[in-house]
Amino acid sequence: MEKNDQTIGTLSEIVRARRTIRSFSNNVPPVEEMEEILRSAIFAPFGRATGLPPKEIRKIFVFSQGTEPMEQARELLLMEISRVARKVKIAITLFPFLKKTMGLFAERISVLERKGIPGLLEAPYYVVIATRKGFPAMEKQTIAHAMQNMWLSATAQGLGLQPISQTSIMSKNKEFMQLLGLKAGDYELDGCVIGVQKAPAEPREERQLEDFVTWVR
Ligand SMILES: Cc1cc2nc3c(=O)[nH]c(=O)nc-3n(C[C@H](O)[C@H](O)[C@H](O)COP(=O)(O)O)c2cc1C
Repeated sequence: MEKNDQTIGTLSEIVRARRTIRSFSNNVPPVEEMEEILRSAIFAPFGRATGLPPKEIRKIFVFSQGTEPMEQARELLLMEISRVARKVKIAITLFPFLKKTMGLFAERISVLERKGIPGLLEAPYYVVIATRKGFPAMEKQTIAHAMQNMWLSATAQGLGLQPISQTSIMSKNKEFMQLLGLKAGDYELDGCVIGVQKAPAEPREERQLEDFVTWVR
């Protein structure tokens, strides 16, 4: 691609404008806009740890709000969250030293258990990305590239995206994987909801290059 100041400016604007959106209106984005977002995911890079063709490595599932599969996916996810919340509580009760590392997660998952995930009820689309496991394991990174492409593409289209990272715990859930037509254990999962933003994102703190970057000379 040739250097082009306008393209650089636009990309920089999109990167800075990308935010986590946690509140959605019930407007449904046009299918063409969703397809553009999904296309950005299929062009994302992937680790070749499996020797399989790209379409076997990465699979994308789109659930639509108000459909039976969406309801099933949401229920299975909430059931799994409850299960994990219970396990974490037991682990911390038995081994209090775990509180240091697991305490924040325990708090967050217990809130999700009680209140659910509003984005999963509001947003018109729940997108699940599955990546085939390989050796050495690169599936988490591969998924992250696809998620980031979708996030930037959604931002460019004026749409909001919220990661639903609890989706990853469903990779061993037989019923959830059955819903996707995949074998439990063969894939790593992640997910997000996409829709029209209802409320603005929380203001972002100042970020300076020198706080993050060290030029090693
Ligand atoms: C790997 C990863 C997992 C995340 N999981 C969630 C999630 O499950 N739910 C959520 O609301 N936000 C999630 N987020 C969003 C982060 O909280 C958010 O990116 C961070 O607070 C910075 O805010 P920003 O995205 O608006 O810049 C996740 C982000 C990443 C990178």
